[in-house]
Amino acid sequence: MQTLEQDTPSIVPIKTTKKFFLETYGCQMNFSDSEIVASILKNEGYSITGKEEEADVILMNTCAIRENVEQKTRQRLTEFRELKNENPSVVIGVLGCMAERLKVKLLEEEDLVDIVVGPDAYRSIPKLIGEVEGGQKAINVLLSREETYADINPVRLSENGISAFISIMRGCDNMCSFCVVPFTRGRERSRDPDSILKEAKGLFEHGYREVTLLGQNVDSYFWYGGGLKKDFDKATEEQKKSAVTFGHLLSMVAEISPLLRVRFSTSNPQDMTDEVLHAMVKHENICRYIHLPMQSGSSTTLKRMNRGYDREKYIDRIKAIRTIIPGCGISTDIISGFCGETEEEHSDTLSLMDEVVFDYAYMFKYSERPGTAAAKKYVDDVPEEIKKRRLQEIVDLHRKHAHESNLKDIGKEFEVLVEGYSKKSENDLSGRNSQNKVVVFPREHYKRGDYVKVKVHSCTSGTLLGEAIK
Ligand code: 5AD
Ligand code: SF4
Repeated sequence: MQTLEQDTPSIVPIKTTKKFFLETYGCQMNFSDSEIVASILKNEGYSITGKEEEADVILMNTCAIRENVEQKTRQRLTEFRELKNENPSVVIGVLGCMAERLKVKLLEEEDLVDIVVGPDAYRSIPKLIGEVEGGQKAINVLLSREETYADINPVRLSENGISAFISIMRGCDNMCSFCVVPFTRGRERSRDPDSILKEAKGLFEHGYREVTLLGQNVDSYFWYGGGLKKDFDKATEEQKKSAVTFGHLLSMVAEISPLLRVRFSTSNPQDMTDEVLHAMVKHENICRYIHLPMQSGSSTTLKRMNRGYDREKYIDRIKAIRTIIPGCGISTDIISGFCGETEEEHSDTLSLMDEVVFDYAYMFKYSERPGTAAAKKYVDDVPEEIKKRRLQEIVDLHRKHAHESNLKDIGKEFEVLVEGYSKKSENDLSGRNSQNKVVVFPREHYKRGDYVKVKVHSCTSGTLLGEAIK
């Protein structure tokens, strides 16, 4: 950053006129973090560009959850390296979980990168860019117990201007044995609810109609103004009285306006309370949709995964959702071929899927991550071919369920929040119903941001098709 040092008080620093390009991989939390990074850089005078060829700074916000995502990132970095060969002053940075996992190795192993920044160190990016411009490589991968970026107003990068992510907490303390997240994102900490409410109100005032509250484990959101959840017993009486749980937070955000839809992700079966389900019932604008990762349908596999619940507990939570919020959409995450998974354990996954019938599922082959408990304790012993075959069985079964779930919606009426034109035609609009299903219908006079009542007349495997009801 260039600054003009003078002692006249009216002089303000001359900010940079440089451009940055920012590419994001991975989960919603990463996309939300990129909006924080964009805000930090914009504050320093950087402007954003969508063209990597014209950028002075190229940043990749990366994911480390599975090996194949890391491979993609490396490929992309070699492409950026070619740009740098043509223009050596370009600065290339890796942010996020892969940066945190590999740390200085990313600088040492390959000459692809100038800057490495972990998820809790984004405030230092401008300084690190300065160091690189001074001829060094730069790294900050310190994890924090406090950083929530609460005071930073994210620059919205998604294009629709209707839905936005709000990060309500960071890190994860769950220690599922397969997962690298607790190592790359550090300890769980919750963000000040006032700053969350201010952000949500600001979005609503700027025309946004949907916010998704993000955390690795939203049900364990907890704020009392006194630091980490585990120190709550040391809190003052006043702090104890003003403690905010996820159920409270959800209600407070929902009360901003009935026209603001509220979503949240991710819920964990062992922590999801009925309080949250009742908060959903009380507020119609809290969407009838829950993402509840099951990972496996086998209690013995879940135990090796250190998931903190078994098959029965998972079923209990599904029953609670179905009883308290009839018609709620439910999606899940499933891993095939975890260490030691037998054919019988795999069948348990299929049978649990049959029992629940998920509306949507994210399905993965197990990928061993160095440093995790599973990598230390268990052998990644399910042969690739078997992992693949089991994944295919899971995918096929899920497709059947998703189609069945869509067929059941034919004839029903839903309120749809319009996000834009459908992918196929500008004569049709596309939006989501409360259950998070994509609904497409003829445009007529409706526009982005409208709530439209749509009657479903048919469906494809992934979309409901209908018509607006007058
Ligand atoms: N291998 C495969 N899938 C994984 N996930 C997390 N870690 C791994 C891994 N090592 C999946 C889980 C999680 C989702 C975000 O990614 O299903 O819920
Ligand atoms: Fe990983 Fe488990 Fe935390 Fe999710 S809850 S981020 S799977 S450790």
